[in-house]
Amino acid sequence: MSQPTPPNLVQGVCGDCHGVEPPFLSPNPSAPSFADIANRQGMSEESLTSWLIEAHNYPELMDFELSESEAGEVARYLISLQSEDYEKAP
Ligand code: HEC
Repeated sequence: MSQPTPPNLVQGVCGDCHGVEPPFLSPNPSAPSFADIANRQGMSEESLTSWLIEAHNYPELMDFELSESEAGEVARYLISLQSEDYEKAP
């Protein structure tokens, strides 16, 4: 299976802080990598999309707003990183 490529939006907006593609090393160490986020318990495309639209719940650092279609695109990409045998990097 080939690795999905992140949308430009993800690289441009999120990639400043989060590790958004392999090897998922976050430029900002306090920002979890996208693989970590995607593989958290109970993460779904729906929950992520609504979290991303309701920007008021963001960590203070995350100072941007996404349209509904952008949030959907980002959430789809994140969920595509879910993997049965994911193991969090130490
Ligand atoms: C300026 C830095 C920065 C940018 C840009 C940024 N983030 Fe974050 N993000 C963070 C930090 C730091 C955390 C961890 C905050 C915490 O744990 O309190 C975080 C946490 C998250 C979380 C997990 C929230 C949770 O419930 O713990 C998600 C999901 C997320 N970011 C998605 C995104 C997406 C999607 C983008 C791009 C559209 C993005 N972030 C852009 C810094 C950033």
